[in-house]
Amino acid sequence: MANTVIIGAQWGDEGKGKIVDMLSAESDLIVRFQGGNNAGHTIKVDGRETILHLIPSGILHENKVCLIGNGVVLDPEVFLTEVDALAAKGVDVSPARLGISPKTHLILPYHKAMDQAREAKRAGKKIGTTGRGIGPCYEDKVARIGVRAGDLAQPDLLREKVRHALLEKNVLLRDLYHFPVLDADEVVSTLLAQAERLTPYLTDVSAAIQKAQNAGQDILFEGAQGIHLDVDHGTYPYVTSSNTVASSAAAGSGVGPRALDRILGIVKAYTTRVGSGPFPTELEDDTGNYLRTQGHEFGATTGRPRRCGWLDTVVLRETVRLNSMTDMALTKLDVLRGLPALRICVAYELDGQRLEYMPQMEGALGRVTPIYEELPGFDEDISDCTSYDQLPQPVRDYITRIEELSGVRVSIVSVGPDRKATMVR
Ligand code: GDP
Ligand code: IMO
Ligand code: MG
Repeated sequence: MANTVIIGAQWGDEGKGKIVDMLSAESDLIVRFQGGNNAGHTIKVDGRETILHLIPSGILHENKVCLIGNGVVLDPEVFLTEVDALAAKGVDVSPARLGISPKTHLILPYHKAMDQAREAKRAGKKIGTTGRGIGPCYEDKVARIGVRAGDLAQPDLLREKVRHALLEKNVLLRDLYHFPVLDADEVVSTLLAQAERLTPYLTDVSAAIQKAQNAGQDILFEGAQGIHLDVDHGTYPYVTSSNTVASSAAAGSGVGPRALDRILGIVKAYTTRVGSGPFPTELEDDTGNYLRTQGHEFGATTGRPRRCGWLDTVVLRETVRLNSMTDMALTKLDVLRGLPALRICVAYELDGQRLEYMPQMEGALGRVTPIYEELPGFDEDISDCTSYDQLPQPVRDYITRIEELSGVRVSIVSVGPDRKATMVR
């Protein structure tokens, strides 16, 4: 096999966790490279569901090594809770097979407070963040005042950094947002208690990947969020605070770009989005409700109902272009069962012009009108299909049309949440 990067092709929740879990069987190392516990990646094995927010989705496979790269933002409390939950299920989460880069930035209580305080003050213009402190943590990283996982092993440095950061944050929290201030010594003492359990996980992730590569092993890079939530290329400002594009797998884990061979985009057979921001094919009608109900479209992290709509191949073409996408996994096809017709957005109209790609100016996506093509629907239950040939003709036609419109091959088809409900073409 080759090294593979998994990316969400739309606005997140495409089924990345499921596909990463499946491909972990043929990989040696699974690496998260951006985002934090804003992610919620669901895996279902023999009816048992596991939702992971931070730990790579390869963890359920024995003997595979899972690493958290420098590009991730890690909430120590969430990490330890996840470790405990997995251990309680009998999963080996020892430092022998789980590592965190010392360069990974930590999400601290003041990041969560700032995230929530800002959203509360935005009134009508909320981004709809997950409230997990993601944005403020990345801000501190770029501002060069962040606290990193490796600092947990250096208490003096840790104390100095937290005190320095709180000088500014407490003024904002108290005077601007009217939120409770935080005590630096309390923050540090909690961190030092967590450090005892966390420091054994510190690993030079870049070196571990290099070693694996030298041994001829295969690496799976697990992206979080979706391409259109990318801080540069997404629907700014309604985005997350990291680069979600495939190339970020290199910077976010400490490998060069030539280490990335296959770029597998996970595409949901329709579109969903959580939080605010433009969504051209959104359905605020019975069909949208049908997709939400049939697809159980409620957030794996916050439980919020996901906005639902038709598949948008303009969005997909942009994803292909931004990521050198080699192939795609099409998920949740089973959810479309029972709809009389399936619509695919093939282009947009904006100010009398036809657009094949997304407009680049801020706000313009909110003004486009989708141009649709209609294909026949299907009524058969496809969730038990085990090979491509068993899929009804309308389903195969839908897949073919998506390939034509995106210019990329569908190599994996998913027809149910379980690990087994997957076909490789
Ligand atoms: P991720 O964030 O991309 O990992 O996706 P989420 O886990 O947030 O959301 C995907 C949801 O769809 C989860 O509840 C999965 O169990 C479920 N799922 C994944 N693939 C399929 C599929 O092919 N069919 C159905 N019905 N559900 C799926
Ligand atoms: P996975 O990995 C869907 C969205 C939030 C919000 C915006 C910014 O499960 O696909 P943030 O907390 O990141 O500052 O919020 O991004 N968002 C996601 N939407 N899936 C995700 O992750 C998301 N992570 C963040 O809803 O609109
Ligand atoms: Mg998710």
